[in-house]
Amino acid sequence: MLNLIVFIIIFLIFATGAYAGFEGAPWVPTSRKNVKRFLKLANVRKGEVVYDLGCGDGRVVFAAAEKGAVARGLEISLFPFIFAWFSRFFKKDKERIKISYKSIWKTDLSDADVIYFFLLPVAYPRMKKKLENELKKGARIVVCAWPIEGWETAVTDKKEGELGMYLYVN
Ligand SMILES: C[S@@+](CC[C@H](N)C(=O)[O-])C[C@H]1O[C@@H](n2cnc3c(N)ncnc32)[C@H](O)[C@@H]1O
Repeated sequence: MLNLIVFIIIFLIFATGAYAGFEGAPWVPTSRKNVKRFLKLANVRKGEVVYDLGCGDGRVVFAAAEKGAVARGLEISLFPFIFAWFSRFFKKDKERIKISYKSIWKTDLSDADVIYFFLLPVAYPRMKKKLENELKKGARIVVCAWPIEGWETAVTDKKEGELGMYLYVN
């Protein structure tokens, strides 16, 4: 019985991880240095609603909460979700943090002031439509690694040997 439970848990971890890779991107965390670049680029302020779409272990969400934001993370890969969900309990700003086991494609983002994502470019066309339909005027979007084709970049932060970060204002 225990073997079966362990098998099911391992299966779910791999299956949800693979599904997330197919839906948006596999789990590759943003480096601590790049989290700081994000905070600076987005200029996250107290009380703003910040989403990390595919939040992994929650590091971007927690960093935004430290800046006073109402920080929300969405994740469908089981392993990083559990990690982020438990980590939240150890954060002093936990009342302002929400980690949800929910697909980014099934979440309404109309209350967002700031959106961050680090996803594969294959997810961009669908994401563009979603953001164009749902985001309020003035919402800021920061993407890591690949710019969004067809959108005008407000600020590009790219140096030799680093992943690019791109800020857009809706
Ligand atoms: C490249 S990782 C980035 C993780 C985190 N944002 C960070 O910067 O450290 C992309 C994350 O998106 C998650 N993901 C992919 N598709 C998703 C979906 N449809 N809904 C929620 N999360 C998704 C993956 O599981 C993965 O953790």
